[in-house]
Amino acid sequence: MAGFPASGHDGAVGQVIYATSASLDGYVADRQGTLDWLDGLDHDPAGPGGFAEIDARAGAMVMGRATHDWVAGALERTGDPWPHRQPCWVRTRRPLDRPIPGADLRVADGSAAAAVTELRRIAGDADVWCVGGGRTASWLLDAGLLDEMWVTVAPVVLGGGVPLLAGPASLELREVARNGAFAVVRYRVLDATP
Ligand SMILES: NC(=O)c1ccc[n+]([C@@H]2O[C@H](COP(=O)([O-])OP(=O)(O)OC[C@H]3O[C@@H](n4cnc5c(N)ncnc54)[C@H](OP(=O)(O)O)[C@@H]3O)[C@@H](O)[C@H]2O)c1
Repeated sequence: MAGFPASGHDGAVGQVIYATSASLDGYVADRQGTLDWLDGLDHDPAGPGGFAEIDARAGAMVMGRATHDWVAGALERTGDPWPHRQPCWVRTRRPLDRPIPGADLRVADGSAAAAVTELRRIAGDADVWCVGGGRTASWLLDAGLLDEMWVTVAPVVLGGGVPLLAGPASLELREVARNGAFAVVRYRVLDATP
């Protein structure tokens, strides 16, 4: 597993990390809610900031219902298995009515503080991976509970879609790496206000 050059998150443990891909203009999905614009772009999952690194570090995951539904649909279409070993909390106001074989899914319907307390308890010394989307990352950011952002920036300008983050936020650049066609950037979240 090849991590960031400086191996990420400054040695701290139990970090809440929003790790996602995004277009250059800051969208995580296009106007139709798809990720088709990522298809065919060169990317090494075991490379800097790749899926293998965050997956190995994470002891628990959190995603929004819209992201969950997109993932469930994609797995149904492809027949691929759920690829995660960690429990995954889904932020939603509705019951999870579409079980994903092999997935340990739990509902997060309370405050961000309550969710992160539980996520950190389960993760222990490992990190917590916020998969997204932008609304769920913003929920954590607004509560002051987002520690890092790892953004895999695609060489694509979408012109609109689902925002990476609502903000405002003030960030500190910690690392920059190349992964195939993508620029991968690691930021420390300093404050939810710039
Ligand atoms: N590029 C990438 O790597 C990447 C990564 C992740 C996601 N995505 C894309 O991002 C898109 C979704 O992002 P998003 O920002 O629109 O949504 P999201 O963060 O995935 O989900 C937001 C969810 O929050 C729930 N919610 C809202 N208020 C709530 C409350 N008070 N209590 C509990 N739950 C609440 C809603 O579910 P209910 O209506 O059920 O309450 C809503 O569906 C998808 O198209 C996905 O494919 C892309």
